Amino acid sequence: MIFRLALIPILATSLNAFTVTGLQVEHQSNPVGLDDSHPRFQWQIAGETPGLSQSAYQIVVGTSAESISGDSGDLWDSGKVASSASHVTYAGKDLPSTAYIFWKVRTWNTSDEVSPWSETQKYITALIGSDPTAPWISFKDDIPFHKEAKKLHLPAPRYYRKSVKTDRKITKAIAYASALGIYELHLNGKRVGDTYFAPGWTNYHKRAYYNTYDLTSQLQGNTNTLGAIVADGWYAGYVAYGKLVGYGPYKTGRNTYGKTPALMVQLELTYDDGSKETVTTDPTWKVTTGPEYEADFLMGESYDARKELGAWSTNGYDDSAWQSAILAKDNGSHKHVFIDRFSKEEKEFGFVKPPVLQAYPAQPVRITEELPSKSVTKREDGKYIFDLGQNIAGLIRLKVTGESGQKLTIRYGEVLHPDGRLMTENLRQARSTDTYICKGDPKGETWTPRFTSHGFRYIEVSGLTEKPSTSMVTGLVMHSDTPFSSGFECSDPSVTQVYKNAVWTQRGNWIDLPTDCPQRDERMGWTGDAQIYAASAAYHADVAAFFKKWLRELEDDMTPEGYYPSYAPYPVGHGGAIHGTAWSDAGIIVPHSIWKATGNPDFFVNHWPAMTQYMEARKKHDPELQGTAFGAPWGDWLNVNDPTPHEYVDLCYFALVCKQMAAMAEAQSLNNEAQKYTDWLETLRKNFRANHLQADGSIKPTSQSAYVLALDCGLLTDEQERKTAGAHLAKHLQSKSGPTNTGMTTGFLGTKPLLPVLTDTGNLDLAVKLIQSRKFPSWGYEVKNGATTIWERWNSYTEEHGFGGADGKMNAAMNSFSHYAFGAVTEWMMSTLAGIAPAEPGYSKILLHPHFPSKEASDETDTISWVKAYHDSPHGRISVSWKRDGNDALVYEATIPPNTTAELILPESSPWKSENPARVSETLLPGTHRIVVK
Ligand code: BGC
Repeated sequence: MIFRLALIPILATSLNAFTVTGLQVEHQSNPVGLDDSHPRFQWQIAGETPGLSQSAYQIVVGTSAESISGDSGDLWDSGKVASSASHVTYAGKDLPSTAYIFWKVRTWNTSDEVSPWSETQKYITALIGSDPTAPWISFKDDIPFHKEAKKLHLPAPRYYRKSVKTDRKITKAIAYASALGIYELHLNGKRVGDTYFAPGWTNYHKRAYYNTYDLTSQLQGNTNTLGAIVADGWYAGYVAYGKLVGYGPYKTGRNTYGKTPALMVQLELTYDDGSKETVTTDPTWKVTTGPEYEADFLMGESYDARKELGAWSTNGYDDSAWQSAILAKDNGSHKHVFIDRFSKEEKEFGFVKPPVLQAYPAQPVRITEELPSKSVTKREDGKYIFDLGQNIAGLIRLKVTGESGQKLTIRYGEVLHPDGRLMTENLRQARSTDTYICKGDPKGETWTPRFTSHGFRYIEVSGLTEKPSTSMVTGLVMHSDTPFSSGFECSDPSVTQVYKNAVWTQRGNWIDLPTDCPQRDERMGWTGDAQIYAASAAYHADVAAFFKKWLRELEDDMTPEGYYPSYAPYPVGHGGAIHGTAWSDAGIIVPHSIWKATGNPDFFVNHWPAMTQYMEARKKHDPELQGTAFGAPWGDWLNVNDPTPHEYVDLCYFALVCKQMAAMAEAQSLNNEAQKYTDWLETLRKNFRANHLQADGSIKPTSQSAYVLALDCGLLTDEQERKTAGAHLAKHLQSKSGPTNTGMTTGFLGTKPLLPVLTDTGNLDLAVKLIQSRKFPSWGYEVKNGATTIWERWNSYTEEHGFGGADGKMNAAMNSFSHYAFGAVTEWMMSTLAGIAPAEPGYSKILLHPHFPSKEASDETDTISWVKAYHDSPHGRISVSWKRDGNDALVYEATIPPNTTAELILPESSPWKSENPARVSETLLPGTHRIVVK
């Protein structure tokens, strides 16, 4: 056996140059509108000197670029702080509201050489310690409250405008705006910013966000005109499956939070003499309807271009035919009975000011990519179907030349029926139909809806009189604009595609919150899905700010007993309980996952009282710690005829959250709490052994997920017992496998940890065989059948039964082609196959532990022989690659960023030349390393 380890710093340079980059405040770069009084600043170090690390830093913060032009700042100068930490919580003077905040950082390396100052960063504070006080306005809403459950009610969005005259020169104009509904802000004839679906979905009775806009550069002299368009959105429009199951006021599924959308704008002006003025929404604003005659998030948008208002947000526009706005409260009280599974009580649907107004804390939803149509096909019925080649969520841009009054109807689908028809059955009650009525411009007209979103790959257009070219329809990919942060490829294109599909599914579902699916009448922040996927999501993208927002929504909708809900926000009840095992546990698992990925303890520190309350409520429900039927019994949802009892799943998840709570308590030095959760975990383990572990090491219940969960959740700790349980699991899988079947039966909960526990118990080859398989059910089966996103069900489509499932009923029930839970396998692909994981939270110490399958692992195709991956960690990019060369040597390369170290675990000799070679572990310093193992 030969073991050769050669550390070659490929990019070694003699220069010690290093710089400070990747600066973020509260996990965003140069955010506009932060209301945190003590934000967290972080940075990275860039430089190619091997071993580069930080020994000290200095951060300066000021109110102007000049104030920090030297080596200090007028708000804060940390001085030189001896520390390797590349983040710090603000500790200067009180941060001013509505201000530009400038900051920069320099660092010292371990030889005490100093870097240049970073580029100056600039962010904008929102209102710190106070809320906007602008009055909320609405149109005078005389429309009777909608009471017909069967009939769609789709009111037109409203256009608001107001010209603002000033007599002095404005040097700064910052606007805060929000809506009950969704809105777009305009100024002087142009849309402000590029955000969609502002201000996001919250429980508006508890909290709403406002967005911050710097209007300074869009101002024109002494008169400026503000405008806004406001649609129903989640506040008043159709939400989730309310219409389908008959929930909401009068069982209509709409008006979940209120009757009439409302608008709030507060413009803070600073004049050149330093004086300030605030302009707000009030009844002097004018309001009318425009070309959109319908605009609903689920149902779609309808636009009559003949009714366009022209330059409606410019100075001097004739608004004499517009009505005056009114104070939102003047639409009066509207009390109606709200009906869902859990309530039937009278509620107020008139205006209620959200008790908490906060600055939107995350990257907003934006259009992040445009996809041209790849083909257009004529159907016999005169309709045309455009194909983007990729399942996405978002909108389209329509470019058309038509007669005035020509009506185009646009429908969306994720897949086609075998005969080429658009498949829309899986949209359920989401109409997802846009309508465009042409104005007849001979030069052509262009339209993009604004207040709706669809999940689709195919676009069906009817109403055309001649064959269009593909350029008529462009797909606009929309999602919360979290910076993407990873890549994965390997020698098996199917596995590479699985990774891409998971990332596309995240893009399709990260719409203000982690939704379950982007197409049907659901699109809710299901907590089970989110907890399963959080760690994968954090590999794929920088989701810290995104989860900072959602964790608040999760806490807002906790039940009075202290249970986290099954989805957040929680607009209407579900058929089961409000909470549920593994779903509610998201309140613990998501903060834990995001802490691991980012190193920021705020994700649990800020929620600790609620997390603790939840754990106590969970314990109260199960004082003996045996596992009980805890809330809704979804359990191992969508398993393949291999269910696991709810009580058993609960036992496992209780153990998992105890383990994570103990770790998070310890990280805060809450030793008694850490001990308490460790004690609970011990009792859960004891009860597991007493009630579920058999003498031969097998587990009762016998489902695959029963094994997977016991192994993953920390119930089985003894190495030998784990191996035995792993062997039983492998046997179970093999016994169910056959020429066309992988044997996999796990559902939502069992699938994510399946490959990790197989790997961990000595069954790596089986794990690799499964990820490479094209048999049913598997990720590769989806890819083989044309998937470009992850399916909700293993059998969302089967070669034998199409979309219908064996009983032919699946479409009507639910069958999404963009559901990320099964995509959580990417966590294993990154952490285990490529071998990039945080050894310490936030990757200040990295674990590089790649795994190498034997050559025969896959019996369907060539076993994976190389992998390349990277992840942009909080310290910078970590890249790795490994390959089996022609002589069966292992060639491994890794680049680790400055200010980190990595523990590398590799076999002592080629894994393809000897069986189970011993592992060696090596500490790697920043730089690039190439290692050959023969
Ligand atoms: C959602 C799931 C969710 C589940 C709860 C479904 O309708 O789409 O992803 O977790 O309900 O069982």
